[in-house]
Amino acid sequence: MAKIFIGVAWPYANGPIHVGHVAGCYLPPDIFARYHRMIGNEVLMVSGSDEHGTPITVTAEQECVEPAVIAKRYHEINAKALNDLGISFDLFFETSDPNHKIVVHDIFLKLLEKEYIYKKTMELLFCTQCNRFLPDRYVEGQCPHCDHEAARGDQCDECGKPLDTIELIGPKCKLCGSYPELRETEHFFFKLSAFQERLIEYTADKEHWRHNTKNFIRNWLTGGLRDRAITRDIRWGVDIPLDGFEDKRIYVWFEAVIGYLSTSKEWSRRSGDPDKWKEFWQDTKVKHYYFLGKDNIPFHTIIWPAILLGYGGLNLPYDVPANEYLRFEGEQFSKSRGVTIDVPDLLKHYDPDQLRYYLAINMPENRDADFSWDDFENRINTELVGTLGNFIHRALTFTAKNFGEIPTLDETKLTAEDHEALQMIDKTFKDVSVNIEKCQFKNAIKNIMALAHFGNRYFDKKAPWSLLKTDRDACANALHLNLRLVKALAVLTYPFMPNAALRLWNMIGYPDPIENAAWSAGVEGLTQGAKLAHPVPLFKKIVVNGQDKIKEKKIEGVIDMMKFTDFQKVNLRIGKVTKVEDHPDADKLYVLQVDFGNEQRQLVAGLKGYYEKEEILNKNIVVVMNLEPAKLRGIDSNGMLLAADDGKGGVALLIPDPDRNIAIGSRVK
Ligand code: MF3
Ligand code: ZN
Repeated sequence: MAKIFIGVAWPYANGPIHVGHVAGCYLPPDIFARYHRMIGNEVLMVSGSDEHGTPITVTAEQECVEPAVIAKRYHEINAKALNDLGISFDLFFETSDPNHKIVVHDIFLKLLEKEYIYKKTMELLFCTQCNRFLPDRYVEGQCPHCDHEAARGDQCDECGKPLDTIELIGPKCKLCGSYPELRETEHFFFKLSAFQERLIEYTADKEHWRHNTKNFIRNWLTGGLRDRAITRDIRWGVDIPLDGFEDKRIYVWFEAVIGYLSTSKEWSRRSGDPDKWKEFWQDTKVKHYYFLGKDNIPFHTIIWPAILLGYGGLNLPYDVPANEYLRFEGEQFSKSRGVTIDVPDLLKHYDPDQLRYYLAINMPENRDADFSWDDFENRINTELVGTLGNFIHRALTFTAKNFGEIPTLDETKLTAEDHEALQMIDKTFKDVSVNIEKCQFKNAIKNIMALAHFGNRYFDKKAPWSLLKTDRDACANALHLNLRLVKALAVLTYPFMPNAALRLWNMIGYPDPIENAAWSAGVEGLTQGAKLAHPVPLFKKIVVNGQDKIKEKKIEGVIDMMKFTDFQKVNLRIGKVTKVEDHPDADKLYVLQVDFGNEQRQLVAGLKGYYEKEEILNKNIVVVMNLEPAKLRGIDSNGMLLAADDGKGGVALLIPDPDRNIAIGSRVK
């Protein structure tokens, strides 16, 4: 039995996680962890919410709330979503926790003492309009590496390179759009340059790393490492444990990666054995795996290893299986551009295991993959329901109906086909093990589906329905072996679809949780004579409704600058509400009739719970006229009214100045 540490990239607590995140870095480590626990290894898997830095403060400023409000809100949402998805963290922590801060301070001071951290005055971007320094995401401009037009001050999304704001070409203030100037300010630097040789040595034997990762590192190291500022002019984050720096905070990336260690310590503390983390971090035999999306590669393969080398005595990453991106029908998922399918929404409509299946078989391991609703629907219905579910259901219903229990096997009467079935089971277990251990999850799920496919063919070939009439013993043998295939599938699918695997496990007569079973149980015999309950289908077909397809691709929080001509395209008019009714099928929606003088329109608006009907009736409101008509829960809506939302439950309609008595139909511009 070995120990394995699994670190999983921390989602920023500035929005709900989306399917791209799940395919990129949450599902893979869970498959890996569940498999390793089943083969008897001791796994410690940690992550948490990344709650500091400009990703959080930018969102907080947009919503006019404190950063802590945003962090807490999305930590709760994401912790629940990950739990609902079955991602089996030992601890999902938060970087705003005081115990995280203690570990960050310890590392900061130790590196300072060893002179790997030093102070330096530098020039940074200062916006005279906003009267503040502009760290990280408060600036956008052209990427100096790949010329991408809209690189952020912390990183270029296009080429993945981390950036300093001053490297951007033509930087602009994200808040007001003006060009900032350079001003002097004092910051702490991490002496990355001191680790060049040690990092070359460290990466030299990492032949097992993925190609994209190896290439990235090679480029970075041959370019020569530069020291990096690791503090910022910002008030939200881990403070600097020295006097005179009250207005500055430690850079979010520098402290977030330390979360892997602080969470391990916290997990130990909570489990009542405060030194237990050492078994994972100080015993050099323990392999450390980090799962992340490709944009996180430099932080996990250069910066974090350098911090660990500087601190000393702790294990470095052994493998860093970084995934490429899952795109949404060809476009990159992006919260800031509003292209997203949020996990909490998805889980309202779909079974987590179905989602896990689709994201595993479509995992962006070696190249980008595409999420499309049609493909999702299709693969669930033809593969998961049509192949896997179908085989299992045929084998179980036929056996339950005609034998009521697991039939006895007569090993002296095995046919060539039966031997083939047993060999297929063995081979699939070997292949799946190898693939999972190499973090090739897509291949592993394909191996499993091939076994399900084999099962269908085997069932057909054996034709138990005719054997039943001619040779009941031969029929029993055939069904027994079909159930061996079913049992194998229960164990094999567990890391991928834990809930379905458990249901199946119970159906074939094992009352205990499947996670207590060993991986090797999947190749072992069945309990002959165990009663078979009436089987229920493992998965249901899905219908993705057209509504979902449009609705999920929503545009929200767009803070990119628009040109005046873009704004002029929005046709806003004053209309008078002449009728308010409840929506028949939605408890948050009203159906409004609105009069614009020369035309009447029907609008569906989410005002229920904020406004009584009488409060809206006869009011003049502002409506966006040139939006595509939509159906909201079956009712046509032709336009969208404007209201203000403070993010804390306060909602107010926008109403023209009542002293002026402006005519309905007037344009707002
Ligand atoms: N929050 C970062 C992102 O979403 C990932 C941080 S990983 C950590 O890109 F380990 F540094 F926390
Ligand atoms: Zn770039």
